[in-house]
Amino acid sequence: MNTVPAVDASRLPQLLRAMPKAELHMHIEGSLEPELIFALAQRNQIPLAYDSVEALRAAYAFTDLQSFLDIYYAGASVLLHEQDFYDMARAYLDRAVADNVVHTEIFFDPQTHTERGVAMETVINGLYRACRDAQIEQGISSSLILSFLRHLSEESALQTLDAALPLRDRFIGVGLDSSELGNPPEKFTRVFERCKQLGLRLVAHAGEEGPPAYIWGALDVLNVERIDHGVQSEQDALLMQRLVKEQIPLTVCPLSNLKLCVIKDLADHNLPRLLAAGLKVMINSDDPAYFGGYVNENYTQLFAATGMGAPEAYQLARNSLEASFASQAQKQEWIARLDEVFREYAAA
Ligand code: ADE
Ligand code: ZN
Repeated sequence: MNTVPAVDASRLPQLLRAMPKAELHMHIEGSLEPELIFALAQRNQIPLAYDSVEALRAAYAFTDLQSFLDIYYAGASVLLHEQDFYDMARAYLDRAVADNVVHTEIFFDPQTHTERGVAMETVINGLYRACRDAQIEQGISSSLILSFLRHLSEESALQTLDAALPLRDRFIGVGLDSSELGNPPEKFTRVFERCKQLGLRLVAHAGEEGPPAYIWGALDVLNVERIDHGVQSEQDALLMQRLVKEQIPLTVCPLSNLKLCVIKDLADHNLPRLLAAGLKVMINSDDPAYFGGYVNENYTQLFAATGMGAPEAYQLARNSLEASFASQAQKQEWIARLDEVFREYAAA
């Protein structure tokens, strides 16, 4: 679509919800709603530090990334059996279908579970079965990305990779998440090199709280294909030029940035500027159960706060589809559907 047709501003929120989109940055453990945490805790006889869903939700007042991670890892401790991982993923995929997500690339943190004695195949098989059933029953396409925890050692990441390799056909790539500051990409040079040799797709969180140097490191040392977050790239003009020139996708998560105090106000979010500068950015939910909304809520709240319009909506949705690891033919099919939705909204 060369020119995005004009759409009445009153219909923009509806268009944002209706447009087909991909979600490329969502941690499945971050989709565990408090109600499901309590249900799984009861099913698995695991004590919780909170006595009600309301008390747990009230604890979701974060001051930075680490204050969130502490509670996020505690929440994930209720996951023990394959069915628990399946139920968690099906619940997310239901929400994604409701938000017109046609494709999602889901992060999972195996070390959070294997460190508690849960077997790697329990984690991967539960998630994989959920993705497969959602594809068959609801038509949503999804893939899994195994994420290494950067607060742990590279040795632990290498062992995690070895444990996952018998299930190599069930995940498409690897990522790097958890506490960013003090854990630069260079710490994981060898494990990413090995993953590259294995033909895995490579992504990493960088420039969420950390400096532009971490984004350079993720690109030049880890050889990643996408940067998760990357909002700090604006501090470095040379890096901005490179991201534009190479069209390296940044998977931006506005409500996450707000809830983790990376920004003070959604109106201050730099995504409109990054988009206008020609960076390949799109909108994602990161940890929707903790940050106050799934992907459509991220779109509608950011658009309401910043005054972006239909042309930006089109570009963001298109970027999400193009930046995915799906086949070119599949991307073309989704983009044709996107164009159709925009034409319908323009005509109405
Ligand atoms: N794990 C889950 N959410 C994360 C985030 N926003 N940053 C780093 N690690 C994470
Ligand atoms: Zn993330």
